[in-house]
Amino acid sequence: MGIEVKDLTKTYKLKRHQKKLAVDNISFTIPTGEIVGFIGPNGAGKSTTIKMMTGILVPDSGTVSIDGLTFKKNRKEIMLKTGVVFGQKSVLCWDIPVIDSLKLFKDMYRVSEDVFRTNMDSFSDILGLDEFISQPPRLLSLGQRMKADLAASLIYNPDILFLDEPTIGIDVLSKERIRQFIKKINEERHTTIILTTHDVSDIETLCEKMIIIDKGTLIYDGTLPQLKSIYKTTDLEEIIKKIYLAGEKNA
Ligand SMILES: Nc1ncnc2c1ncn2[C@@H]1O[C@H](COP(=O)(O)OP(=O)(O)O)[C@@H](O)[C@H]1O
Ligand SMILES: [Mg+2]
Repeated sequence: MGIEVKDLTKTYKLKRHQKKLAVDNISFTIPTGEIVGFIGPNGAGKSTTIKMMTGILVPDSGTVSIDGLTFKKNRKEIMLKTGVVFGQKSVLCWDIPVIDSLKLFKDMYRVSEDVFRTNMDSFSDILGLDEFISQPPRLLSLGQRMKADLAASLIYNPDILFLDEPTIGIDVLSKERIRQFIKKINEERHTTIILTTHDVSDIETLCEKMIIIDKGTLIYDGTLPQLKSIYKTTDLEEIIKKIYLAGEKNA
């Protein structure tokens, strides 16, 4: 069934009755099992959209349907079947060992001992969790923290995973590991993945489908090969630059 976003709009209230239209009537669908690149310049409205798709923010208007479920009626079910990682904000407790946070997630989501063990083994492989799992996030590198967050968001086997800039500020090797991990999860579990990134290699190696937004509006929704054929080049960096520049000129 997948994800269906329809006419989604969100305005932030600023000081002195000023408003900021962050997401302006966006609609798209994401089929189950895809990895979608959710792209756009800073301030485009990506995080706001993801927050509405994960029930963190309530839209002004429009609807989000996750496998036919809506936040109004099925909030808990959606929470159980979705995971989210924000590159800028960890879900883990800063001062307690990562393993304890993971066990907290295990209890919260009622994950069986069996599933927990199996997942920890499978995650440790690529993410190298064993190296740092007994330390608290405050002692970890950004890359290690991100790996810990990825483990936390997947420990309860969600069907859908939202990743908002998971590779931001991370060294090339950790980035490579994180990419491998995302690919493995998608291949083995058919987890639907919505990935926000400014890294062109992330998109090239992972995404079949791309959704591009700018200033809160949808400007592209299609496959990566289609996008390349429209712009008559395989240089994705060049294409994205052109799209963002066109957006600036229309501002
Ligand atoms: N809590 C907030 N209050 C007011 N304005 C916000 C808030 N969060 C985001 N914005 C504004 O909404 C717009 C979209 O932001 P965001 O969704 O974070 O974009 P992106 O993730 O694509 O960089 C930006 O202009 C941003 O400044
Ligand atoms: Mg953002």
